[in-house]
Amino acid sequence: MIHGGRGPLRGTVAASGAKNAVLPLMAAALLAEGKTTIRNTPDLQDVYTLNHLLRVIGAKVEFKADSHDLLIDAYGASFAEAPYDLVKKMRASIYVLGPLLARFGHGKVSLPGGCAWGPRPVNLHLEGFQALGAEIELDEGYIIAKAPSGGLRGGKIKFEPSSVGATGNVLMAAVLAKGSSRIENAAMEPEITALADCLVKMGARIDGIGTSTLEIEGVDRLNPITFTNIPDRIEAGTFLVAGAMIPGSEVTVTDVRPDHLTAVTDALRQAGATVTIGDRRVTVAAPDELRPVDCTTEIYPGFPTDMQAQWMTLMTQATGGSTITDTIYADRFKHVPELERLGAHLTVEGNHALVRGADRLKGATVMSTDLRASVSLVMAGLLAEGRTEVLRVYHLDRGYEAVERKFATLGADVVREHYDEFT
Ligand code: UD1
Repeated sequence: MIHGGRGPLRGTVAASGAKNAVLPLMAAALLAEGKTTIRNTPDLQDVYTLNHLLRVIGAKVEFKADSHDLLIDAYGASFAEAPYDLVKKMRASIYVLGPLLARFGHGKVSLPGGCAWGPRPVNLHLEGFQALGAEIELDEGYIIAKAPSGGLRGGKIKFEPSSVGATGNVLMAAVLAKGSSRIENAAMEPEITALADCLVKMGARIDGIGTSTLEIEGVDRLNPITFTNIPDRIEAGTFLVAGAMIPGSEVTVTDVRPDHLTAVTDALRQAGATVTIGDRRVTVAAPDELRPVDCTTEIYPGFPTDMQAQWMTLMTQATGGSTITDTIYADRFKHVPELERLGAHLTVEGNHALVRGADRLKGATVMSTDLRASVSLVMAGLLAEGRTEVLRVYHLDRGYEAVERKFATLGADVVREHYDEFT
C-alpha cells in the first residue's frame, strides 16, 4: 500500500548484490566439487528458488541472509535434473544446464515456456551446447541434453541476437570442454563479466572478458572458491530514477559500480537531473522541471530493458512527450495499462511507447505483471495523489531486497500489507 503525492524522496540507500549476476554464479558452483562461497548474495525470492534447485541436484546450500554469504557445497551433486515446478517459477533455472552437461555429461531441464511479456526462447542456449557436441532432444516439455562420450568438446558459436543467458550458460559448459571454444557476439553485460571473472578464479581459461568475443581453452577441473558478487545496477538505477521524479528530491545510492550505470545516469542528466558520481556511490537531485527524453533499450552498455518501465514512470512527469523503444523485448509493455489506471497517458505502437508527459496521477489498485513492471507501479504510486494498492507483489520480491524498507528510508509511505506467494 502506498500513500503517494507526499513530497520529495530524500536519503541514502545501499544497493544489494545483483540478482542477475548471482544466479549464474550459483549455477557455476556446480562446476567445482567442493565448497564455494558467494559474498554479497541478495536476499531475494529468486535466490531461494535456485537454492532449492541446487539442493534437488544434490548440493548442500546454506544462505546466511544477515551476512549475505551463500555457501554451496556441490561435492555430492549427482541428480542432473531441473523439474518444471522450479523452472516455471524462475526461467533463469536453465542456467544449471551448462554446468550439468559439463560436469556429468548430461542434463534434463524443463523448458521454461513464455513469460508475462511474451515468448522468451532458449534456442540459442541449445545451439550453443550443440556447437560443443551435445545432442539435444525435447521430450514431454523437457530439454534432454547429452554430451558425446568423452565429454563436451570445444566449438564455435555466434549468438544472434546477443543473449545474456545463452552466453553465460554456454560459457559455463565450454570451460570444462576439451579444446578451445569461441563465442562471438557474446553478451558484454557486467553480469557476464562477473561470471567469467569467477570462472577464471576457479581455474578456467577465458580471453576477451568484457568484449563481444570470448575465447575459452577448456581445463580438466575447476576449484571451489570465494567470490564477491557485483552490485545490482538495475536496483540502483531504479532508486536513482525514483530520486529524479519529484522536485526537491535527493537520493544517494551507495555500494554501486557507477561505471555500470552510465546509460541511466546519462539519461537522467538529459532529463535535467543533477547527478554526482562518487566512489562507489551516485547521488541524483531532481530538477524543478523534468525534460522529456526519448529512450531506446539496447544491449550493454546501452540503456537496459530492465529499466524501461521505471523510465516510463519518470517520463509521465516530464514537461512534454517522449518515446520509449524496446529493442530487446518488443512486447515488454504490460505495465502500460496499469500505469494508465493511475492516470498516465500512454500509447503503444509496436515496440514503441509514446508518453504524453505532465500527467497528474491518482491512486488506484493496480496489478504487478512482472518484476520491473511492479517497481514502476510502486514508483507511480509515490507520485499519485491518494492511495495506491499494488497487487501480486511477489514479482517485486523476486528481484528487490527489502524494497519497502528502502523506499521508507527515503521518506516514502510504502507499507507491505502481506507477503504472497508465486503460484
Ligand atoms: C537476462 C536478464 C533479464 C534481462 C535480459 C536482457 C537474467 C536472469 N535475466 O535475461 O532481466 O531483461 O537479460 O538484458 O539475467 N533470445 C533468443 N533466443 C535465446 C535467448 C534469447 O532469441 O535462446 C532473445 C530474447 O528473446 C531477447 C534477446 O535474445 O530478445 C535477449 O535475451 P537474453 O539476453 O537472452 O535475456 P535473458 O538472459 O533471458
